[in-house]
Amino acid sequence: MADEKKTIFSGMQPSGYITLGNYLGALRNWTKLQDEYNCLYCIVDMHAITVRQDPVKLRQQARKLLIQYIASGLDPEKNIIYYQSHVPQHAELGWVLNCFTYMGELNRMTQFKEKSAKHTDNINAGLFTYPVLMAADILLYQADLVPVGEDQRQHLEITRDIATRFNSIYGDVFTIPEAYIGKVGARVMALQDPTKKMSKSDENKNNSIALLDEPGVIMSKIKKAVTDSDNEVRHGEDKPGVTNLLNIYCAVTDKTMEEAEREFAGSNYGQFKTAVGEAVVASLEPIQAKAKELEQNKDYIDSIIKNNAERAQRIANRTLTKVHRKIGFPDRIR
Ligand code: TRP
Repeated sequence: MADEKKTIFSGMQPSGYITLGNYLGALRNWTKLQDEYNCLYCIVDMHAITVRQDPVKLRQQARKLLIQYIASGLDPEKNIIYYQSHVPQHAELGWVLNCFTYMGELNRMTQFKEKSAKHTDNINAGLFTYPVLMAADILLYQADLVPVGEDQRQHLEITRDIATRFNSIYGDVFTIPEAYIGKVGARVMALQDPTKKMSKSDENKNNSIALLDEPGVIMSKIKKAVTDSDNEVRHGEDKPGVTNLLNIYCAVTDKTMEEAEREFAGSNYGQFKTAVGEAVVASLEPIQAKAKELEQNKDYIDSIIKNNAERAQRIANRTLTKVHRKIGFPDRIR
């Protein structure tokens, strides 16, 4: 991009809902980046079809995700929030990069190994070249920074390798991206098993809270959260369940651990959980109200979708045109 700001690129699977963990751990902080960086948030529906999807659900979930991002505070004018499939340059650059990626490199990807073990009846070529499309996502926008969780580090590494290889042949075409280590938000753990992270793909729905869960559902999930038997509200390694609830409480109320512990000194777990539940409900209420309003405003959302895809395309085209020239494709006649 032509200005001084660095570019952050983030991609997310259209799985339809965002958890409280995603929100408190990442999304909430992203809203603070929008003035300092050029941020792109890409809903990766093309990656999603590397495993079978129900078409109706896929479309609904992609829209729902976009709405939740905006409702959570990502400004669709400051950021570019868009669907991958609306920007054909991703697929085009993906093809080119396929020709600069070795089978051996892709064979080493742990996510490919895991996913092909899980979907033995559908080990398709797209699943294998998934990281190449991801490299295309990132490199198209000359992204400087990519916020990635542990599970995506290897994919960022291969992106860097592909970009470096390409640059060493053709000169400086791609920015080599780095992992974005932002301010760490709260680390929210699964409610039924506070030794593992809260995850949207968790099969036990009582483990996670969705951003758009109804208040009653939130209350009941928090009431069912595992604690321990000593009935004392304090944090500590020996008390992962209570600690998790305290962390959630602090994150949604902006209180410190000391303040929270003081507040709940003498409370039993029932009272404590009610307070945590009410605080979570209150903090999500404005987001839920905004999401409802956006859902009803079809024309507005459609205009965002169109406009953001066009903005993404303009940037993507600059990179793609350069790549085509470098590799010797004939100029397009315009
Ligand atoms: N593979 C990422 C995931 O499953 C999603 C993704 C696709 C992505 N393209 C990206 C993440 C580019 C960061 C940058 O979570």
